[in-house]
Order: sequence, then C-alpha cells, then structure tokens
Amino acid sequence: MEYFLIEGGKPLNGSVRASGSKNAALPIIAASILSTTNKVVLKNIPMLKDIETMIELLKSINVDIKFNKSRKEVIVKPTTSSYKEPPYELVRKMRASFNIMGPLLTRKNKIRIPFPGGCAIGTRPIDLHLKGFAMMGVKIDINSGYVLANSKHLHGSEIYLDLPSVGATENIMMAAVMAKGKTIIRNPAREPEIVDLANFLNSMGADIEGAGSDTIRIRGVNSLTGCTYRVMPDRIEAGTYLIAGAITRGKVKVTNVIVEHLASLIDKLKEAGLQIVTGANWVEVRPCKEIKGVNVKTLPYPGFPTDLQSQIVALLCTAKGTSIVTESIFDKRTAHVPELKRMGADISVDGNNIIINGRKKLTGAEVIAPDLRAGASLVLAGLAAEGTTKISDIFHIDRGYENIEEKIQKLGGHIKRIGKESVPKAANI
Ligand code: EPZ
Repeated sequence: MEYFLIEGGKPLNGSVRASGSKNAALPIIAASILSTTNKVVLKNIPMLKDIETMIELLKSINVDIKFNKSRKEVIVKPTTSSYKEPPYELVRKMRASFNIMGPLLTRKNKIRIPFPGGCAIGTRPIDLHLKGFAMMGVKIDINSGYVLANSKHLHGSEIYLDLPSVGATENIMMAAVMAKGKTIIRNPAREPEIVDLANFLNSMGADIEGAGSDTIRIRGVNSLTGCTYRVMPDRIEAGTYLIAGAITRGKVKVTNVIVEHLASLIDKLKEAGLQIVTGANWVEVRPCKEIKGVNVKTLPYPGFPTDLQSQIVALLCTAKGTSIVTESIFDKRTAHVPELKRMGADISVDGNNIIINGRKKLTGAEVIAPDLRAGASLVLAGLAAEGTTKISDIFHIDRGYENIEEKIQKLGGHIKRIGKESVPKAANI
C-alpha cells in the first residue's frame, strides 16, 4: 500500500496554485446529465479520486462522459438512451454519489438507488433530501438498503430545511430546475459551492435566484441545454496550504482563489497572531513571533468550515496556550485526535469539543489517515514535526488533494510517496 514519508521541521516558502473545487465539481458533473441538447464542457476539473468515482458512476448508468486529465476538462454528451440503475458499490463508495438522485428524478420516472453509507466523520443521514423530494411529489419507499423513487408528478414546492444541508440543497435544486411550477428552498446551505452549482444550472437555461442567500427561488423550465463552464477554485484545498505555511512558520502564497471564500479562516489566523496579506485572487500567510491558541467553532458558511477543522487543530497543537475547537456540523469528526497524540500533541476530546494545550514541537511518528481531512491534518503535522512521519492509508488524501506531494515539494517541503502505482498522469477516462 502507498504511504507518505515526510521529513519535518522545515518552513514552507513560495507560491502554490489552488486547483478546481472538488465539492463544486461533483454536483456540477452530476447535473450535466440534465442537458438534453448540446454537450456540456466543464473546465478546471481537478484530478481527484472522488472525481474519477463520479465519472465511473455516470458511465455505469449509460452517460456519455469523458475526462481529459491533461486539459482538466470533463465533457458530457446528451444521451437519449435511458439511464441504468446506479450500482450499489459506487454509491456506497462515495456519499456525493447520492447527488445523482436530483438530476435522475428529472430524467426518469422510476429510480432505485442504494442508501449512501455513513463514513468516518458521522452518520450522515439523507432525511432532508428525501423530505424535499417528497414535497415535490416524489413517491419515496425505502427497503433493503435502497431508496425507490417514483417521480411521475414532479412539481415545485415550498421547502424548509431543518438545517442548511449542502447535499440536500444541491439535490433539491437539481430536481426543481425542470419541475412544474415554482420551488422555494428556505434555510438552504449558503456555501460557495451552492452558488457555483446555481450559476452552472443557469448557464444551461435554468431559472434560479437567491443561491448563497437564506432563500432560493427556482422556476421550473421545460428543457436545459449544454454549455461550457469553469468550476470555482477549491477553498478547502487553498485553506489547507495556508495552514501548511502557518504550521511550518513559513511564508506561503496561495493563488487562483476567491479571497472572500476564505474570510473565516483568514480572520482566525489573524486572531492567532499570523500576518495575512491578500490580493485580487491570492492570499499569503507570513510567519509571526508566536502563534497564540484560539477557540474555533465550525458552522455552516459563512462560518468556519468543518472541512478545515482537522487542519486548524493540527496548527493549534503547535500554538502557545490552550485552544478549544468545537465541531458543530458532524457528530464524529475527531479521528485525527488520536493520531496527533501519537505525534506528541497534548490534545483530548470532550463531546464535540477538542481541547488542545499547545506545545513547542511535535515529533514525527507512524500514523494512519482515517479520512480525507484528518489525513490532510497529519500531513501538516508531519511537515511541522521534528523527525520523520510515515502516513499510511493515503488513498483518503488522494480523494481531495490534487498532486499534493508535488505542490508541497514546490514549497520546499520534504514529502515522498512510496509504493506509487504507475497511473499515467494524462490518461483520459
Ligand atoms: C458536503 O457534504 C461536503 N461534501 C462535505 O465535505 C462538507 O463537510 C459538508 O457538505 C458540510 O459543509 C461535498 O460537497 C461532496 P451536509 P454533505 O448535508 O452535503 C446533516 C469534504 O471533506 N444532515 O451539509 O454530506 C449531516 O449529518 C466533505 O470535502 C442531516 O441531518 O453535508 C451533517 O451533520 C466531507 N440530514 C450536517 O447535516 C440530511 O438529510 C451537514 O451535512 C443531510 C445532512
């Protein structure tokens, strides 16, 4: 199995470019099947395992889709042939696969889709997705691990989300764009990825207003056509590299970002004493005399993102003083804590609070990546620690970080991937 070997203790310096956003690209690729005329061309698509899984899923249900990795482009051609049932093993493999349900409800009257699994960060129910579909006239049955949906009478509705679920907002939006009449989503997720999806759907001829606000209004249209669309930069990848600069006491500039997407992280890093400089489409973190412990609470956007929680926890393990990080989005996003402890962190979990007493130094150790963002936090800790860190199960990290070792090496970090399978870089799939 592949693993990372990291020699830590060296400040990272230089500039790194953010890739396209995984969490914007996944629903947008799924939504591409809504075009019944002309092809969809998606640009700035990152080479990630999760993207490949989504593409595999769409191919498995008969979608004509190609990923030109060297051009970072995905092309989806409309097909009149009917779609097959999404296969169990692919939907179980990646929760985001469930976002195929919204578009499929528009293209097929009857759907059978496996119940998506939970994962290392929590139970991750889909009740809000199903509540929204049911209010739009979809008949939902659940048995033996499958969701059976009959969408013969898909119509608009006024839907209140008990909590601002990103996936539920995306799925309902994709089902509503061609439903009869108007749909209003109250208390939707306001993440930038929601706005990107709405912009993409509107480029196809949809009629969506209010994405990014507390109410989204959608007027159903009769058809959608292909378009060319460039997905937004990945704010979580960008934030991870800013924290990499901070934890190694270096000077790192991340380019090709939308600065306002990083506002909550920038504010927290400043509160911890770091110098942050911003430009039109870049953010730079510079070293400071001493990083102070701060309290963090993860919240729906524009609050501090849960997807940067593990990473800032790693940083606060090296800050001066005590920090309390409260995870309010997921019920189990603490798998990084025992691994950071192995690296000498003074850290503990109390309910959904992570309590950290900062230390001067972490020490390299053998650790295992438990999930995508926890894995990223171990890379950051390894880059800061004294000595060598070996991180196993790095397939989790490859789900969400494009060319991570090359990007870190470019910043002067000593990281090597051992046991790499020879996958041709520019293979089209
Ligand atoms: C998206 O997941 C992201 N994934 C996650 O990023 C991100 O952490 C999450 O949004 C929150 O920002 C993608 O976009 C592919 P949610 P999603 O529905 O849509 C509860 C990463 O690291 N909930 O907003 O699954 C749920 O249990 C990944 O890139 C319900 O109770 O997140 C959770 O506690 C990890 N019922 C909370 O809402 C529902 O029907 C937020 O979940 C749906 C969700």
